[in-house]
Amino acid sequence: MKICIVGAGFVGLATGVMFGKLGHEIVCADIDESRVNAVNSGKSPFFEPPLEKELSRLVKRSRLSATTDVVRAASEGETIFLCVQTPSLPSGRIDLHPLKSASKTVGRAIKRCKDYKVVVVKSTVVPSTTDAIVLPILEKSSGKKAGNGFGLAMNPEFLQEGSALKDSMQPSRIVIGALDKRSGDILAKLYAPLKAEKVRTDMRTAEMIKYASNAFLATKISYANEIANMCVRFGIDSESVLAAAGMDPRIGRLFLRPGLGFGGSCLPKDVKALRDKARSEGFSSRLLSTILAINEAQPSEAVSMLESAIGALRGKRIAVLGLAFKGGVDDIRETRALPLIETLRSKGAAVVAYDPMAARSFARAMPDLEFASSAAKCLKGVDGAIVQADWEEFRRLGRTEFSSMRTPVIVDGRRCLDPDRIRKAGARYLGIGYGAAR
Ligand SMILES: NC(=O)c1ccc[n+]([C@@H]2O[C@H](COP(=O)([O-])OP(=O)(O)OC[C@H]3O[C@@H](n4cnc5c(N)ncnc54)[C@H](O)[C@@H]3O)[C@@H](O)[C@H]2O)c1
Repeated sequence: MKICIVGAGFVGLATGVMFGKLGHEIVCADIDESRVNAVNSGKSPFFEPPLEKELSRLVKRSRLSATTDVVRAASEGETIFLCVQTPSLPSGRIDLHPLKSASKTVGRAIKRCKDYKVVVVKSTVVPSTTDAIVLPILEKSSGKKAGNGFGLAMNPEFLQEGSALKDSMQPSRIVIGALDKRSGDILAKLYAPLKAEKVRTDMRTAEMIKYASNAFLATKISYANEIANMCVRFGIDSESVLAAAGMDPRIGRLFLRPGLGFGGSCLPKDVKALRDKARSEGFSSRLLSTILAINEAQPSEAVSMLESAIGALRGKRIAVLGLAFKGGVDDIRETRALPLIETLRSKGAAVVAYDPMAARSFARAMPDLEFASSAAKCLKGVDGAIVQADWEEFRRLGRTEFSSMRTPVIVDGRRCLDPDRIRKAGARYLGIGYGAAR
């Protein structure tokens, strides 16, 4: 089948490469010319090495191409996946402008064509968006009726950055919310080669499944941090507590670790969008507000730990290792590095930062920040360091690097380092959520 992907971002490209590997012909459409050029030269516009490898193979075999001509690409596709971004407005409300604009363009393509096309919303959207916003736009710009002139479905994506292609090829479940049976069947057939269970629902249910999943993951992280913050004050290591609690299958170990809080392109904005949507329907979610409040406060916990070890931060020089929202990716959307650095600076510290992949994009967000070109250079002469993202290279830091610090104190904000190794190499180790640090 010929598949059109509108929006060549993480989700669009992972979906395109996954269907390309299953034997379909893929055309990606994006309004960003630099992304289109990158894709056509077999390069991923973001750091995702396994995805890039497969992308480059498909491009070489002419199984996947990209264009800025969205109408042409959508005209050629039998199934059209809408994978554009759905960010937060300053109020927390979901910003549907990119989706509305993409829907209008796709509708114009449907108008031109005689064949039956299925439009699939893969972007994360609050319940009722597909039927109450996307559907009327498509009908108006195509002049056709949904469920008759074209099909419509909602198919949320659950991939994680850093393992985008693997997650697309081996999803935990495939949710197919369809307007009509025919659209649902076409989508189910497309996904048939993947082993995961297919959950067939209506479109609003599919939309809500995505939010219920992300809100739970965010809850789990904030819960782990709340327990960790108590453990610190009780003189207990939260990691042992949470690891043992997570052995209960009703709880589960994943996402149950102390840290600096959640960031990235999904969890913060999805929790805010769900809270806003609930509010617009007259329901005030105290749980979601608390999850967000705990998350906001978490970088200060790491800063307090550092202060307890080296005293007031005014006039001190502090290294921040890792600027991406997590290790292994170059995405800085909602990274905790931003509030962390702001807190350090508000206390009078001078900050020097390093990230193997995300420094350039972070420099655009914080142009006056001092950057080092390696973790070793970042540590030179500093009074303390905070690890913000779990990059493999930070695990290799040792005596040579620590001895170049003015005060060798490491706050491990992700609990990704080996405390014994750090101590043996001559530095003081403080793991976030670790009571012994106080
Ligand atoms: N990134 C993730 O880990 C992830 C995981 C699951 C779900 N999601 C959801 O998937 C959606 C896409 O996320 P993403 O991270 O891939 O976004 P992204 O920002 O990486 O990519 C979106 C792409 O859409 C393009 N675009 C915007 N408007 C367009 C238009 N009118 N026509 C054509 N292209 C257009 C942009 O130029 C951009 O390249 C979001 O709703 C997000 O919440 C993301």
